[in-house]
Parts: sequence; C-alpha cells; structure tokens
Amino acid sequence: MIARPPLSRWSYRHVLDLAAFSQEDYATVLELANRFRALPMSGPRRLPALQGRLVTTLFFEPSTRTRSSFELAARRLSADVQSFSPASSALAKGESLLDTARTYVAMGSDVLVVRHGCSGVPALLARDLERAGCKVAVLNGGDGLHSHPSQALLDLFTLARHFNPDAPGLEALQRRRIVIVGDLLHSRVARSNLWALTACGADVVLCGPESLLPQGFEQFVSAPPPGQQLDPVPQRGSLRLERDLDRALEGADAVMTLRLQKERMRHHLITSLDAYHRRYGLNHERLQVCGKTVPVLHPGPVNRGVELSGDLLDDASVSLVEEQVRNGIPVRMALLYLMAATEDG
Ligand code: NCD
Repeated sequence: MIARPPLSRWSYRHVLDLAAFSQEDYATVLELANRFRALPMSGPRRLPALQGRLVTTLFFEPSTRTRSSFELAARRLSADVQSFSPASSALAKGESLLDTARTYVAMGSDVLVVRHGCSGVPALLARDLERAGCKVAVLNGGDGLHSHPSQALLDLFTLARHFNPDAPGLEALQRRRIVIVGDLLHSRVARSNLWALTACGADVVLCGPESLLPQGFEQFVSAPPPGQQLDPVPQRGSLRLERDLDRALEGADAVMTLRLQKERMRHHLITSLDAYHRRYGLNHERLQVCGKTVPVLHPGPVNRGVELSGDLLDDASVSLVEEQVRNGIPVRMALLYLMAATEDG
C-alpha cells in the first residue's frame, strides 16, 4: 500500500510543461516515483489508485517508449487504457483534433496523454476541452519542439538516483554539472530538461554546432516562465554554452546526449553524420576528458554510431539509457496518480 504522498500543494489539473513547476512540485514527483519504484516486481503489481478510471493515449506522432510506458504505468495503477492511432482513425475522414479528443472524453476518458508534432497542441486541447465543460486531464506526451515533461522528469529521477540512490531528491542534483550535447534546436526533451535541471540547482553546459544550438539558447531560463510574472524557483542553476565538446566535458558529472532529429530538419543542418560524430559524438575515449567515470543519458531512440558509439550505449557501467526507460514507468505512475488525486480533491 502506498501511503498518501504530500499532495497538499499539487494543484495541476493538466501537466503541459515544466516551466511553472516549483521545487516542491519536482520533489513531490521524485518522492512518489521513488516509492513506486520500490514496489516489489513480483507478486500483485497493481495498485488500486486509478481503478475505474480511463486513460487514453492520443499519439499523433510515432513513439516506442513514451506511449508504452504511460500505458503500463496506467495499468499498474489499475486504470483502463485505450489508445488512438491516427492512421486508422476518422482523422483521415477530416475529423478535427478537438472532435477526436471529445469523442474519447464522451467514452469516459479521465486522462488524455497527447503527443503531437506541433508545439502547443496539448495546451490547446486542454483549453478547448475545459471551455466545452469536459472534466478531463491532459498530459503532454511531447509536443513539437516545445515540451516533453514526463521525459525530463524521468531524466531528473534517473540522475537523482544515480547521484544518491538512497535519497533521490532535489538535493542530489545541487551544483552537479550536466552537459547536454546535440540537437538542442529540435529538442523538446532538452527544453523541458533546462527548466527541470536548473530548478534543482544543477549547472548546465550546452554543447552543439551553431546550426543545432543557436547563440542565445543559454538565455532560455533567464526570464520568468511564459505566462508567469515571477519565476517560481527562487534561484536556478546556471546555463552556459560551449561549442567545443572536450571543453564542455571538463568537470562534468553527467552527459545527456540528444538525437539528431533528421525528420525535423528541413535544411541540411549538418555536413555529414561522420563529421558530426567526430565533433559531437561520444565514445569511451572521448569520455576520458571528464577525468572520472560519468553516466551518459539519451532519451532514445538512439542513432547508433552518431550521438553515441554502439559500445558506449551497451556499456551498462556508463550508459543509463535502459535505466531511463525503466524509470519512465514509476515517474509516469506518479504523474497519473497525482492527476487523479487532484480530480478527487
Ligand atoms: C524523444 C521525443 O520523442 O521527443 N523521445 C522520447 O520520447 N523518448 C526524443 C527524440 O525523439 O529524439
């Protein structure tokens, strides 16, 4: 049985991005995820928390990890789960996004997990559904270049667990130097991670070629989050840009690599994959610059031999990629649990 977590300040009906998350919000998710992760993997694995609830995954873009992980998380909390596939849906007959979403709400959905290639779609649906009087919660499963909150939360949890397995809270991230390398321009994962990591006091170093990491990106968290007068986080960790990977890696505590999002590159933004790997790819030899063993993360899917060498990806003493996948389930359980509890309250 899970003891009731500290929900008093959890007030989100929807989780659309992390920009407005306070340190308490992160602490609540990490604490709950840690409790869910500690549940025995054998014996009865379902908790009754979402019994009688319906969770619908509406994914308008491909996904391997996020969708299955949300569905598994929902099932572990005893929810009913249904999933929507755009190819075989009435979208092909011209039905609008909102009408598609309302159809699932009419079937009784309590939570819609939405992924879409255009930034802002989950927020738009949440607003329109509210206006239509629907009491459904919307969880962003990744939208365009904007945000991927559950991925950043699972990255945070994975790092916190790595640095302090016994107490994987915010303190574990304080003053850690985290390098994010790769295609930041197209990465919703990076954008969400910038809010999350700096909120927990980590110092972030951004690295990548000019075409994938534009000048000025280091200002990302320096203004209050969109729609807020004040930043809810009193003091964030720092953000710095470094073009040279070896210099970026000096003193690093962890490296987060990002996929080259070829499907979003309308122009040829890199000269060749080989050249990219030589300058920005990671392998065992390159990592020695850190001067100590540091963990490597990647949200997946990985372009083997481009962002990471195959050897490094498969080396479980360094690569946390599978650990990220595993941690995705308790983190998404935490989000679903919190949203259902908010509805109850
Ligand atoms: C990411 C995504 O879809 O934004 N993947 C994921 O959810 N695990 C990153 C990517 O596609 O590169």
